[in-house]
Amino acid sequence: MKSLIASLAVVTTLLSATGLQAQAPATPPASYMMCMACHGMDGKGMGAGTPTPMAPPLSGSKLAGFADGELMASIVFTGIEKQDAKFLGIMAPLGAALNDAQMAEVLTFVRSNFGNKAPAVTADQVKGWREKYNGKPMQKRADLEAKLK
Ligand code: HEC
Repeated sequence: MKSLIASLAVVTTLLSATGLQAQAPATPPASYMMCMACHGMDGKGMGAGTPTPMAPPLSGSKLAGFADGELMASIVFTGIEKQDAKFLGIMAPLGAALNDAQMAEVLTFVRSNFGNKAPAVTADQVKGWREKYNGKPMQKRADLEAKLK
């Protein structure tokens, strides 16, 4: 029995040393609950794999992970103009529902979870971006994607 426990301990140590141990998913902050309804708990998009998912994945999203987060913030402030029927949902402007700290929190959460590895966003940055984008017309997907270059 003792040797069994000892070998289990060795295996556990080896697994964590090699990074093979299952990674517990980070608990999303309350601010992410608003996104979850469409983008899903796992960031893959509700209905991922069905012909018409609710929303695209945030996991691996170039728009979410781009640069310092201004592009992603601009999306949450203005929303995206619906131009096709690829998704059931619509990316509405959500700036009014989140204060600067909550917005910074949700942007940082998405950019550093679901396999994403982009730098954190501060409430100060969000304050400036709010002035720039909040209340502006919905952006077109093609214009957003053009900014990735
Ligand atoms: C009511 C559903 C809905 C909610 C709620 C929602 N989104 Fe979206 N989101 C969408 C849809 C649909 C698109 C794709 C729009 C398009 O291209 O036409 C999208 C696109 C995006 C994109 C671009 C992703 C990419 O790579 O294409 C980002 C980033 C994003 N949303 C972030 C968020 C964040 C952050 C929240 C929460 C604060 C949120 N969304 C809440 C439906 C939603």
